Amino acid sequence: MISETLQKARAFEAQYGPHIPDSERPAFHATPTIGWMNDPNGFSFYKGECHLFYQYYPYSNEWGPMHWGHLKTRDFLRWKRLPAALAPDQEYDSSGCFSGGAVELPDGRQLLMYTGVQRSHNADGFLQDVQTQCVAVGDGVNYEKWGGNPVLDGKDLPEGGSTTDFRDPKVWRDKDGDFYAVIGNRTADGSGAILLYRGIEDFKGEFVRTLDQCHNQYGKMWECPDFFPLDGKQVLMTSPQDMKPVGLEFHAGNGTLCLIGEYDPEKGFFRQSAQAIDYGLDFYAPQTLEAPDGRRIMIAWMQNWDTVNSKPYHCRWFGQMTLPRELSLKDGRLIQNPVRELEAYRGARAIHQNIPVCGEINLPGVRGRVLDMTVTVRPTGPELYRWFRVRVAKDGEHETSIRYRPDQGTLKLDRIRSGLPRDIVHTRSFLVRPRNGEIKLRIILDRYSLEVFVNDGEQAASAVIYTRQEADAITFEAGGSVMMDVEKYDLDFF
Ligand code: FRU
Repeated sequence: MISETLQKARAFEAQYGPHIPDSERPAFHATPTIGWMNDPNGFSFYKGECHLFYQYYPYSNEWGPMHWGHLKTRDFLRWKRLPAALAPDQEYDSSGCFSGGAVELPDGRQLLMYTGVQRSHNADGFLQDVQTQCVAVGDGVNYEKWGGNPVLDGKDLPEGGSTTDFRDPKVWRDKDGDFYAVIGNRTADGSGAILLYRGIEDFKGEFVRTLDQCHNQYGKMWECPDFFPLDGKQVLMTSPQDMKPVGLEFHAGNGTLCLIGEYDPEKGFFRQSAQAIDYGLDFYAPQTLEAPDGRRIMIAWMQNWDTVNSKPYHCRWFGQMTLPRELSLKDGRLIQNPVRELEAYRGARAIHQNIPVCGEINLPGVRGRVLDMTVTVRPTGPELYRWFRVRVAKDGEHETSIRYRPDQGTLKLDRIRSGLPRDIVHTRSFLVRPRNGEIKLRIILDRYSLEVFVNDGEQAASAVIYTRQEADAITFEAGGSVMMDVEKYDLDFF
């Protein structure tokens, strides 16, 4: 049965969504049908297709009572719109259907597991959330919430666990066919923990253990967890709120955290290292899936809670997802690269090799806003250059730049002049590791964003930009002199 609230959302998006022309959206990054989008939800395969749900408020470009929007794709790049999947229409989710996951059940139906939020006045008269875990089951388009919801609530928490911060189940089926979920929680010390549950397919959940805990080291509440094997190790990802900066690794505010370690199902998860996932300005709440061909693919909200009030005036959609990325591990670190499907969309190319750069230059055939460009830079001789800079999305007034300083080993992403209307955080620097003195930047541009992958995915940095599309010049500049190769492809989605 489709509730009135869901019917209303579906009618609204069907009526007004098509008013937004494709030319006002990114060419291949997922956006909401209309209105607001945040976290990716239920990123998973179902009957051979990749489904992506998302936190959704269709009626405004601001966050509101959360629905689940719905998209699907065959290649991670072209997205087909489906009607909204969930609406806040029950008592236990009356304040929102928060983030969660999806999985195919043994009987062929698709299970959505999400956080139901109910807000009410607490003993001090303050408004407070109660968060529980709920399920809905469907056929890939329509979903029925289970009559016995919630599946998990306060009584399923370990001692000291918060019922106000208990959210974002990520559900999966392991190789033995067992169903598990990881869920974020706040513990008695006020900081986050990731809890593991099993038995989800029977609409119940049995607490297994706390997988890892923040102990006030990496931020506070740990949101949107994911837990998966990768290249012989086990990865636990989460998006911590209220991070403290640590050198150039973690910045203040909403951050991302990748914990790499070993997992023994009998004994638990043993963390060996911690790193940020993305080093740019806009990246949060990543979720992964295992593709039928075995690849581990990650997508995230390409936005940051601290910058959501800096949006283009009158925009009819707000929030977009990152380009899905293939994950691997190398030397104990997370490697991220654009899904290989992107290469099928490569069109006109411009290749320039061994170009000396001293001062600022542009190159024939190298401009545009929807493209895939790799720039490799090396010193011309034994003497080190001072800096190298690529500027994209450029006209007389605007630009977005990436600058490398070999003496510090830092890359700086700067979108001060990228069309955002407010003076918020616009730069971020991070440490990179040149290889034999060489630095390689793969830059993906798509109308309203820039993602850079450094040295074959050793680091990734993402940022939204809102520059007018006519600002499409690209320049290369060095302080000192460098030798440069550029390989640029237009991406043909039109
Ligand atoms: C993360 C988050 C989640 C929550 C959702 C609400 O961005 O805060 O923890 O489920 O957004 O929209």
